[in-house]
Amino acid sequence: MDNYKIRISGRKKLSGTITVSGAKNASLPELAATILTDSEVLLNGVPDVEDVNTMFNALESIGASGNFSDNKVNINFSNIKEPVVSETISKTSRSSILILGPLLARNGYARVSLPGGCAIGDRKIDFHLEGLERMGAEIKVEDGYILARSKRLKGADYTFPGVSVTGTENLIMASTLADGETILRNCAVEPEITDLITFLEAMGAEIMGKGSDTIRIKGKNILKGTSHTVIPDRIEMGTYVIAACLRGDNIVVKNCIPEYIGSLLTILESMGVEILINGDEISIKVPGQLKPVEVNTDPYPGFPTDLQAQLTTLLTQVDGISHIRENIFNNRFKHVIELNKMGANIAINGNIAEIKGVSDLKGTYLNATDLRASASLVLGALIAEGETYIDNAYQLFRGYEDMPGKLNKIGADISTMKV
Ligand code: EPU
Repeated sequence: MDNYKIRISGRKKLSGTITVSGAKNASLPELAATILTDSEVLLNGVPDVEDVNTMFNALESIGASGNFSDNKVNINFSNIKEPVVSETISKTSRSSILILGPLLARNGYARVSLPGGCAIGDRKIDFHLEGLERMGAEIKVEDGYILARSKRLKGADYTFPGVSVTGTENLIMASTLADGETILRNCAVEPEITDLITFLEAMGAEIMGKGSDTIRIKGKNILKGTSHTVIPDRIEMGTYVIAACLRGDNIVVKNCIPEYIGSLLTILESMGVEILINGDEISIKVPGQLKPVEVNTDPYPGFPTDLQAQLTTLLTQVDGISHIRENIFNNRFKHVIELNKMGANIAINGNIAEIKGVSDLKGTYLNATDLRASASLVLGALIAEGETYIDNAYQLFRGYEDMPGKLNKIGADISTMKV
């Protein structure tokens, strides 16, 4: 795996339009769902990011033939050659777990390496396994691998004990080829799940309850090929809207579906930011000093944990004391150590970050611990005095398509070095 270092020279005037790419977290389950058909599938708007490349490589190693270029994937799973997801793949991206449900449903057997440790806290997969067992799968965990076997999965009635995004996606995908009807309750309702259902419907799946927390799926013998365009990435949207709040009124964020980041926009408005929406474009006005806020991360439509780090950077520039309570993951504050190295004043108490502003950030040497943490450091570097160097910037490229290029186009000074 190549690694990168990023250098950012701060306090440049930014002005212009940034276009949001397709959603990583919709592309990943949709790529996994291509296992459910032996016909050709075309996905448009797939972001060229490392997690997507890892998923594409994993599918090729199972037997897919296809091509990924210019944000288009065409893929054909005419047969399953090797129903295995190796440790090398699961170590790089935890979303390889999304292959388990569709592979088992199509092939009757799957061997998937357990997702490795995670920088943002415990990320269990017990709901994925319990749900598949409820559908008749025999599951063993042995030598770091999940071994799942089932003649044909059977429809079942399963209530998720907690809300899980990929858990919901995995069980929906598995149910599309099960014998009979599956009812999934207490499902996650993120827009990426709705987009996955739209895609599965186009593949011939029969699914009721799209957008709600109870989903009913009538299983089919096989799904068919189709083409589909992935929705825009709401976390990328939110990240650039926050960048606009930090760097002034001349940034337009394009290819947005504003309601996807409704919770962020509401928070920004309560802080005093003026939000201007024009079709798929969002721009903002910061009329004066912003007010501190109290924020909780929650499942959609609540404020997303995936924007917590980036909002933290913005709150270092707000006069007063703000709090963010992280309700989804139990260790998602690694960016705080790095932001404090830049001069921020943030204290962690359990799952609450207390941010005292205004801090005058200064460029320094930083380490990117995870994807969203690395985005928060880039935002910090844009407003910092002097130069910031971010090590382990591979993390950023796992989920943001060409962030340095997009920011440089509007006036930033960012260079990327392979190390
Ligand atoms: N959980 C369980 N058991 C399970 C599944 C989840 O206890 O079987 C717990 C987790 O430990 C966690 C909570 O439920 O505390 C929520 O986890 P969830 O399963 O919803 O997370 P995920 O599906 O693994 C997806 C995104 C993450 C995003 C979270 C929360 C993808 C590929 N990943 O992860 O995205 O943070 O939902 O919204 O969709 C990112 O893009 O940077 C990222 C980490």
